[in-house]
Amino acid sequence: MDTASDNGSEPRIFLSYADNFPEHVVLFIHGYPLSSQMWVPQLEGLAGTVWGVAPDLRGCGESGTPGGAVTMTDYAEDCVALLDELGLEDPVVVCGLSMGGYVALELYRLHPDRVSALVLAATKAGADTDEGKAGRDKNAQIARDEGVEAIASAMIPKMFAPQTVADDPELVAEVREIMTSGSVEGVVGALEAMRDRIDSTPTLATIGVPTLILHGADDQLMPPAEGEKLKAGIPGAELVLIEGAGHLLNLEQPDLFNDALLDFLSTLP
Ligand code: MLT
Repeated sequence: MDTASDNGSEPRIFLSYADNFPEHVVLFIHGYPLSSQMWVPQLEGLAGTVWGVAPDLRGCGESGTPGGAVTMTDYAEDCVALLDELGLEDPVVVCGLSMGGYVALELYRLHPDRVSALVLAATKAGADTDEGKAGRDKNAQIARDEGVEAIASAMIPKMFAPQTVADDPELVAEVREIMTSGSVEGVVGALEAMRDRIDSTPTLATIGVPTLILHGADDQLMPPAEGEKLKAGIPGAELVLIEGAGHLLNLEQPDLFNDALLDFLSTLP
């Protein structure tokens, strides 16, 4: 495992190296209000098999921000810039969870030639409703007035399956730690980027790469019906429901998540 960080506006990178040059490179894109740290069970669990690259999106984790408004397009272009910087010009597997899935769909829309396969976890294609947009503004105000702790406290109960909250308080505490280490600026930027994102539904039918959809069976934030809609919209997509998992399925059931990902990767050319 190796990490590298830079000095400002570009994403921090978090790499796991394989002993031999691995068959697949997987770009792991984190959700909100999180960071690359959420992918540690994948970077560690799959090391030796895949080269995992997990950026901190602009303003999140250790990444700086050039200031000003952030868009889903900025996040996607930052990811492509990171691939360029790493010399990864061939298409890679792009795996995004929740907000990371919004970024993955935007990246595919803008640069389909950089994507060999998609993994869409706990995410959806549709844009925010008017009510959803108003909720983003309300949360941005809460973040400014009360800090990221208030955002974390409101979100934590919805992020996990009830079983996880009961059985794994350590994981819940770790996630709280990741959430509260973010900056107000990063959280507000992500809220605005999500509020203003375009509807990716028209992109779905254009997806011409193998696609795996993963969803927690007990996701309280993003109902599994959203995963079904993605499956219905993306030609040939496969859907795997992860039992015993809520919204943060890769952390709640890392072995099931990693196994599903490895099975999928083994089917790729
Ligand atoms: C996420 O988990 O990334 C966000 O909750 C997604 C959203 O709020 O739309």
